[in-house]
Amino acid sequence: MCGIVGYIGKNQAAPILLDGLAKLEYRGYDSAGIAVYNNGKIEFAKSKGRLQVLSDKIHGGDDVTGTMGIGHTRWATHGEPSDTNAHPHLSSSGRFAVVHNGIIENYITLKKKLQDKGFEFVSQTDTEVIAHLFEYYYQGDIIDAVIKVINRVEGSYALGVLCSDYPDSFVAVRKASPMIVGLGDNEQFIASDVAAILKHTRDIYYLEDNEIVVLKADGVKIYNTDKEEVEKEVSKVTWDIDAAEKGGYEHFMMKEIEEQPTAIRNTVSPRIQNGKIVLDSVSLTTEDIKNIRKIYIVACGSAYHVGVVAKYIIEKMCRIPVETQLASEFRYCDPIVGSEDLVIAISQSGETADTLAALKEAKNHGSRILSIVNVEGSAIAKASDDVIYTWAGPEIAVATTKAYSTQLSVVYLIATYMADKLGLLTSGEYKKLVDDIQRLPDMVESVLKDKDYIQYLASKFYNCHSIFFIGRNLDYAVALEGSLKLKEISYIHSEAYAAGELKHGTISLIEDGTLVIALATGSELFDKTVSNVKEVKARGAVVMGVTTEKEDMRDVADHIISLPAVSEQLMPSLTVIPLQLFSYYVASNKGCDIDKPKNLAKSVTVE
Ligand code: AGP
Repeated sequence: MCGIVGYIGKNQAAPILLDGLAKLEYRGYDSAGIAVYNNGKIEFAKSKGRLQVLSDKIHGGDDVTGTMGIGHTRWATHGEPSDTNAHPHLSSSGRFAVVHNGIIENYITLKKKLQDKGFEFVSQTDTEVIAHLFEYYYQGDIIDAVIKVINRVEGSYALGVLCSDYPDSFVAVRKASPMIVGLGDNEQFIASDVAAILKHTRDIYYLEDNEIVVLKADGVKIYNTDKEEVEKEVSKVTWDIDAAEKGGYEHFMMKEIEEQPTAIRNTVSPRIQNGKIVLDSVSLTTEDIKNIRKIYIVACGSAYHVGVVAKYIIEKMCRIPVETQLASEFRYCDPIVGSEDLVIAISQSGETADTLAALKEAKNHGSRILSIVNVEGSAIAKASDDVIYTWAGPEIAVATTKAYSTQLSVVYLIATYMADKLGLLTSGEYKKLVDDIQRLPDMVESVLKDKDYIQYLASKFYNCHSIFFIGRNLDYAVALEGSLKLKEISYIHSEAYAAGELKHGTISLIEDGTLVIALATGSELFDKTVSNVKEVKARGAVVMGVTTEKEDMRDVADHIISLPAVSEQLMPSLTVIPLQLFSYYVASNKGCDIDKPKNLAKSVTVE
């Protein structure tokens, strides 16, 4: 969702801003713009559509001179995608230019007030009120103006602000929307995330809510809302620029699919020492675990699907009731959650607005929060009591793959760790699980070798209008993810159904030639799923079976994708791989924009 970049230094700002915005394209956007300070005034350019349209308009930035500026990619929330609604927004006098990520919840009231005072609005956005508020409150001191503005606005914001009275500095502030500060050598940056500025610096400040940053070419100062200077620790980014580049792959999604063995290894290896699971960052004692009344898991999208896997596994292994809820529902359902409950929040970005709000709701009820997060220093990580980082590296493709897989690995670690502490595993069972968790990267690697076959299947089925995924238990949980992946990037309608539920309605949609992808890896329920496959076959379906137990499935399915066997609890990590590959190749056959599917954003920082 919206991306922000800001620069001050000795170089021409516009090309640097465009380059940084290009690194943020994956977040999803529909228009882009920049504003640059030049000779006492602010110049700007904005365009609806791809960043390339903006870049062409200003000849790669060459047309805009000046060494300080802000840039933005907009994902429309208030007002259609258009040149006018694109950011930056300028105050009426042109003194202030503002880029914003987030939502100003009270903008209608503020707009009305400003209009009554004679301010004229040109866009339909909530952001424009901020530009005018700056004009309204400014009395010669930019920090005072920032404090007054953020006192008036409600909602979430990451803001970059240029003021033509300040030729050698600009300001930024954030609340509940991501923004980092990059510290260079006589050049400083702001950005929505590290990828945008990594080629310039690895030294980063992670900002707390309402910390105000003043950036000058030779350094950065940070103030609180009492205008007192705040000392902050510099964080070093450890991952490499290559991790945020395509490295020869046609799409980030395929690169990230292929990175899964390494990503899972990075997640798991440091947490298994001498055959024991060590969760350093988790402060829950054995006593705490014994006293958990219920576990709630809150998340959105694919992270929610990890939560569905987690429910089956934790309940089975730890005998603790688990309720997995969509964060957007949990936050408003007056949840019966309290201090005896553990709440697990799962999020790749760590910035998803609904997950953050659900976590805060649970916190207000006194629950302890454990989060599984990929992006270090993100809002969800900061708001949690304990964090287990997935260490998957940057994930750029909108459709998640390696983040999903590393989240699953963390779930296995947590479930096995807790079951052991609760005395529910024999030493043999514990050892087998730990060994299998360690083997997962190699096993995922071996499943990835089947790529060509999956590509062949995708070439047969990419014209389907509708595809069904069925499975029971953990296979059902993975079916949800397979179906979402396909919908997201290939735009083919798809449903994931618990196999036993089909006959209660959806089977009426099965007709001659309908593709049904049947997942059957659980031994206990294998025969039941095979029966469901027979039911859809009898109604004309073409079936692709994804299974470890080949023989009976081979008799009924039209195509078989075979998986190696591992402890059944861990099978989701293997089952999901062919589904990711299938979606990728189907989308590729259809010529879809795989890394940036229409209407979707990588990081959903609004409700
Ligand atoms: C999955 O492919 C998605 N793009 C989406 O469902 C995502 O998982 C969801 O928006 C949650 O994001 P988060 O993990 O950053 O919280």
